[in-house]
Amino acid sequence: MTVRAVVRGVGHYLPERIVENAEFEATLDTTSDWIVSRSGIERRHFAAPGENTSDLGASAALAALADAGLGAGDIDAIVLATSTADLTFPSAATMVQAKIGMTQGFAFDVQAVCAGFVFALANANALILSGQARRILVIGAETFSRILDMNDRATCVLFGDGAGAVVLEAAEGNGDTGDRGILAVDLHSDGRLRDSLYVDGGVSTGKSGVLKMQGKEVFRHAVEKLADTASAALGKAGLGHADVDWIVPHQANLRIIRSTAARMDIPLDRVVVTVQDHGNTSAASIPLALSVGKASGKILPGQLVVTEAIGGGLAWGAVALRW
Ligand code: UT7
Repeated sequence: MTVRAVVRGVGHYLPERIVENAEFEATLDTTSDWIVSRSGIERRHFAAPGENTSDLGASAALAALADAGLGAGDIDAIVLATSTADLTFPSAATMVQAKIGMTQGFAFDVQAVCAGFVFALANANALILSGQARRILVIGAETFSRILDMNDRATCVLFGDGAGAVVLEAAEGNGDTGDRGILAVDLHSDGRLRDSLYVDGGVSTGKSGVLKMQGKEVFRHAVEKLADTASAALGKAGLGHADVDWIVPHQANLRIIRSTAARMDIPLDRVVVTVQDHGNTSAASIPLALSVGKASGKILPGQLVVTEAIGGGLAWGAVALRW
């Protein structure tokens, strides 16, 4: 008998306020055409004043629990990926735990920036495979609007706020590639590349800071590394590119998404794309796309899904799973 971590439910939450590209034209030397042509982004959501990452995460968690037909009392752990926790500590995960009325189990944050949800899935999978938890809420939640320099046209037009969540549950598999659940994980980081994407604040600085990005440099790494890590995860699972039903990529830039799919020889109609509506929501982008992909009838039980992401660190990775 092989234990697998199977997705039992998925859900998401987006703040009410939608910011169209045109809004930036009023304050910055930019155009909607530039933003669309360079990134594919048309709009994004921004959290309301007083609406924080743990609020977004709690709403997504409740949506995922409802989809799974479960309550907060059925969950053993919360693993929450974020780089924009409400406070330096406690973790946003423990805040979500309290907000959804979960009084048992344990909760912690994972910080791997835009790759955070992939790292959180890997952590939750390991907890389930080692028998430490049977059901885990894995959440990606971000309020990147709070760490943007609204005068930096090269970054502030790219990011948005949101949250997505899945309920992972231990299930019995046969130990072969037909099993539902997480089949393989591939993770990487290279701390030498920290200056290409970082926030210039934190406890060593006395301020929370704003996001700084060398866009071209990150773009180059993304194009190189994402197809490699997705292929590596598939290889570890004993599968190939032709087996993939859906790529659910980190939603940073449509050009990166296209080029990753092309390198894997996978047509764009087998890729879930939400970047036009959400912008880059960092660790929230993959669970948001999973939730939208399921709700729109694209992702179906038994299908092979590959998620891949890269972000600050740099940190990158992929998960191959059967839905
Ligand atoms: O989620 C974490 C991972 N992050 C990413 O994957 C992001 C990776 N990078 C990218 O997506 C792209 O590099 C960007 C979308 C950020 C930028 O696209 P690009 O094609 O690399 O443009 P660029 O940075 O080379 O800028 C081209 C020009 C520059 O002007 P000059 O120097 O050629 O005169 C920029 O100043 O576009 C200018 N520019 C803008 N123009 C109008 C930069 N931002 C804007 C803007 N509106 N908002």
